[in-house]
Amino acid sequence: MTFPRIAILVGTRGRGSNMRALAEACSSGRLAAQIGLVIGPRADAPALEVARELGLDAHVQDFAAEDAGASLVAALHRARCRLLCLAGFMRLLPAEVLETFPGRVLNIHPALLPKFGGKGMYGRHVHEAVLAAGEIESGCSVHLVTPVYDEGEVVHQLRCPVLRGDTPDTLAGRVLALEHQAYAEAVAKVLEELDGD
Ligand code: GRF
Repeated sequence: MTFPRIAILVGTRGRGSNMRALAEACSSGRLAAQIGLVIGPRADAPALEVARELGLDAHVQDFAAEDAGASLVAALHRARCRLLCLAGFMRLLPAEVLETFPGRVLNIHPALLPKFGGKGMYGRHVHEAVLAAGEIESGCSVHLVTPVYDEGEVVHQLRCPVLRGDTPDTLAGRVLALEHQAYAEAVAKVLEELDGD
């Protein structure tokens, strides 16, 4: 049986934990998909190291290059990937990629969108803002990627409480555990919807 292939786009500094969680969901059979390709912006990106350790096909894509969009699209087609999952990738994607894969590019965000999203809302800043706002719950969101940061349709969310005495780090840890579960669930949901097309 051939499973649909997905690609993962990691960032320069990310740990690659969401990529690992997706890879483990595929290899354990919890997610009926396979990782066709992992792409990162620099050869020394820690998440690409993790990808190589996991035996995944890891590619470097220079996003400063003029043809970055075209070459990413070509790589996704070559690897026959149906879906692109952003995991720690902080920039806006070249328009060409979103036009070629409408409704097929996902991102994970460590808060309950539409709250606490947008430019500058990443990593620790998100959890600091959640605590400063006195929220009683937080969580993570998997959403479709559009040309505007964190604005696409939310596909899946998981929630957790904000506890008294939480610091940005303790809250981030609780949310990250949810992210690892939510991303595989969201990918399964989107692949199922694409199958119905
Ligand atoms: C995650 O918190 C994710 O929500 C955000 O970037 C972080 C990436 O972490 N988009 P990792 O590299 O997957 O561990």
